[in-house]
Amino acid sequence: MSQETRILGIETSCDETAAAVVENGRHIISNIVASQVKIHARYGGVFPEMASRAHIETIHQVVANTLSQAHVGLEAVDAIAVTRGPGLAGSLVVGMNMAKGLALGSGLPLLGINHLEAHLYSIWLVEEKPEPAFPLICLIVSGGHTELVLMRDHLTYKRLGGTLDDAAGEAFDKVARLLGLAYPGGPAIQQAAENGDPQSINFPRAWLEGTWNFSFSGLKTAVLREVRERQPELEAGVEPPRPGLPIANLAAAFQAAVVDVLVGKTLAATETFEAKEILVAGGVSANQPLREAFQKRSEVPVQMPPLDLCTDNAAMVAAVGHRRFLAGQRDALDIDVLPTWPLTG
Ligand code: KG4
Ligand code: ZN
Repeated sequence: MSQETRILGIETSCDETAAAVVENGRHIISNIVASQVKIHARYGGVFPEMASRAHIETIHQVVANTLSQAHVGLEAVDAIAVTRGPGLAGSLVVGMNMAKGLALGSGLPLLGINHLEAHLYSIWLVEEKPEPAFPLICLIVSGGHTELVLMRDHLTYKRLGGTLDDAAGEAFDKVARLLGLAYPGGPAIQQAAENGDPQSINFPRAWLEGTWNFSFSGLKTAVLREVRERQPELEAGVEPPRPGLPIANLAAAFQAAVVDVLVGKTLAATETFEAKEILVAGGVSANQPLREAFQKRSEVPVQMPPLDLCTDNAAMVAAVGHRRFLAGQRDALDIDVLPTWPLTG
């Protein structure tokens, strides 16, 4: 791992248009994220067609600004790493086409990267900390995924389980909508919960004993039931709730149930597989009560990215690009995007 690299990363799998230049998989030279949150907020979720259109409008500028902020041209870059999947097909294609165009024009190698793997490698971007020690138990919690993965070495994954229905972030987003809170739901619920009592309502926890899977649909339905009982006239997700709904308590109790299950199952897997450390990554890893619960309850070190690297960015894509470039990966210029690409290997 002694060879020095400089990788350009590109990410457009969902609603962030992002590019970054990273050295040696750990040192961020430049990192730009153009968020589409404002565009999607009025729909209460990501509107796929609007997302791809916004990516098309911004991708060139984002890549150009990233290179100029890094004070490098493509001649000083070793490879172009781009998110190939999983994600929204129309959004992925925009980043992929941009990366292919740059690779074709410059002769640089093209590396198609798994977005879930990229979330994990966001941890390696925390330069001040020593690299995590294998074997690791990894929890990836984002808007589209909840995955529990055993990582025995770099680029080596055994999927233990994942969500059977809603992803953790999706549950936050849907419940936020139900409570009339803003999109994205995670930060909105976290904020609303600050004034609430997590024990005010005992929401169900789906432990799914004997598996490493998760389920959040029962919890979501339980929140809906609570809301309807108090406001029978309310049409979920259509009208904002009327005054009188105990939003803070509902948010706090819901958040506590999600945190409990995520932390509990991850710690159980850590014990079962005798992992040395835990990695938690993805948008939901920005959740403060989740971070605190992990730090408080885990006996092994828990690594989580800094808040700005929890949600989608291209630095994490470049970080994986570094590992895969050194491992010899070189993709053909006609590779397709993979909207439902599981993390394996
Ligand atoms: O990883 P990410 O940026 O995009 C995907 O790959 O899906 O994750 C976005 C998700 C959204 O569902 C958002 O509500 C959630 O991460 N999220 C949070 C927090 N910040 C973002 N969930 C809980 N608490 C937060 N503070
Ligand atoms: Zn993501």
